[in-house]
Amino acid sequence: MLSAKMETALNSQVNKELHSAYIYLGMANYLESQNFKGMASWMKKQASEEVEHAEKIIGYLQDRGAHVELEAIDKPRNEYESILNAFESGLAHERVVTESIHDLVILARDEKDLATENFLTWFVSEQVEEEATFSYVVDLLMKVNNVAAGLMIIDGQLGARA
Ligand code: FEO
Repeated sequence: MLSAKMETALNSQVNKELHSAYIYLGMANYLESQNFKGMASWMKKQASEEVEHAEKIIGYLQDRGAHVELEAIDKPRNEYESILNAFESGLAHERVVTESIHDLVILARDEKDLATENFLTWFVSEQVEEEATFSYVVDLLMKVNNVAAGLMIIDGQLGARA
């Protein structure tokens, strides 16, 4: 059985994952408004992944017989200063999520909750990938330095995300 503290913390993580999805949908809409459809498509897929992350935690809470409490989701940004600013914001957000996952692991360890610690291993690895993915795109965007031809190549590349 999960402790009340762990149950609350995992429910809070569900909210953070859904908030991530909302943030990325806001970014996708901004990218679409700039006519970078490939980037917008990439970001929408990112948003879908975040919903999957939330569902994964919900499934775990349910498997453990814990209560699932969905909370209100904060309003995301709908505008960004530039394409680079949007992706940099995404990278900064993923770093915050990584901290949050690490805090959950530390809590599970403190509570000697081996099942939850084991469950969270997937998320620890996923965060390495999430940060690396955003970091890669930020690096590409910095290299092209807002030159239209470069942005269009990146747009095409990101649009191919499976
Ligand atoms: Fe679910 Fe992108 O962290």
